[in-house]
Amino acid sequence: MIRAETILRRFWWRKRLLITGASSGLGWAVVQALAPYGVQFGLLARRKTALEMLAEELKESDSTFWIRQCDVRRREEVESAVRAFARHVGGLDVVWANSGISLDTSFAKWNWQAVQDVFQTNLWGAIYTIRAALEIMAEQPEGHVVGVGSVASMRGLPGRGIYSITKMGLAYYMESLAGELPHLRFHIIHPGYVRTPIIEGNPNVQFVVSPEKAARKMVLAVARGKARVIFPWQMKLVYHLGHCMPEPLYLWLTKRIAGMVRPAGRRQDPDQFYASGDRSSQST
Ligand SMILES: NC(=O)c1ccc[n+]([C@@H]2O[C@H](COP(=O)([O-])OP(=O)(O)OC[C@H]3O[C@@H](n4cnc5c(N)ncnc54)[C@H](OP(=O)(O)O)[C@@H]3O)[C@@H](O)[C@H]2O)c1
Repeated sequence: MIRAETILRRFWWRKRLLITGASSGLGWAVVQALAPYGVQFGLLARRKTALEMLAEELKESDSTFWIRQCDVRRREEVESAVRAFARHVGGLDVVWANSGISLDTSFAKWNWQAVQDVFQTNLWGAIYTIRAALEIMAEQPEGHVVGVGSVASMRGLPGRGIYSITKMGLAYYMESLAGELPHLRFHIIHPGYVRTPIIEGNPNVQFVVSPEKAARKMVLAVARGKARVIFPWQMKLVYHLGHCMPEPLYLWLTKRIAGMVRPAGRRQDPDQFYASGDRSSQST
């Protein structure tokens, strides 16, 4: 059996990789995990100083770092960044749509701004990124598209319905593209809980893994050509059980586990949503 290290080196060496959301959490950890492999990185996020810190931390590695401040909710910004990076390195081997947020969009805390932000970042942002990359990759003999979904895309999730839709939507979009562009490889990754800022303040997390472990798992899965990755194994089991569970049983379970049975009409004032600083992100 070929060692993981050999697989990683063979696949990732000198790859031209554009990744969104590299300023924190999983994106940051993926860059750290790949830095030893001479990757030509394009790093995007809104927090440019965080990207610069990451590049500074890894400056002794074999990799190179191209940085651009970019809000993935803005299509023109994304398209211009993707084109500029591809021009800079002479093509694009891997695009990694990682940027994401998770906000409470439950009935009780409904807030249109939050709903729009989750859609625009997780779904539209990923579509802008992938679509812009495909303009370049479709002309190439090969290329890899990585999308970060979530175990939350398994089924409808109380309190996180919009987050769940965005991740499910991304998975379906990528699956559709895989049929249209058979010379490219599409990898959808569904992490369970990973210890990053997105789960801060969530008391209900289970089977949490470190960003380092998650990153290692993801970069190896892409190198191995996996089309769909779900981790850790406990959440993979939950994902598959959830998928095949009969509707009445699933609803019974979610009502109880999520404690969502509330007296009808008890709603929070939507204006309190951001005012209270409740930007905590509690999905997987
Ligand atoms: N951690 C988990 O448990 C978990 C589980 C399943 C899936 N995921 C998914 O993994 C991905 C990464 O999340 P994470 O856990 O690493 O959380 P995180 O530490 O909060 O990182 C989120 C990243 O997304 C970027 N981002 C957010 N809004 C953006 C925007 N409008 N434009 C550009 N970049 C934006 C952030 O950068 P800036 O703020 O600098 O823009 C940041 O780098 C997300 O798609 C998330 O849904 C996470």
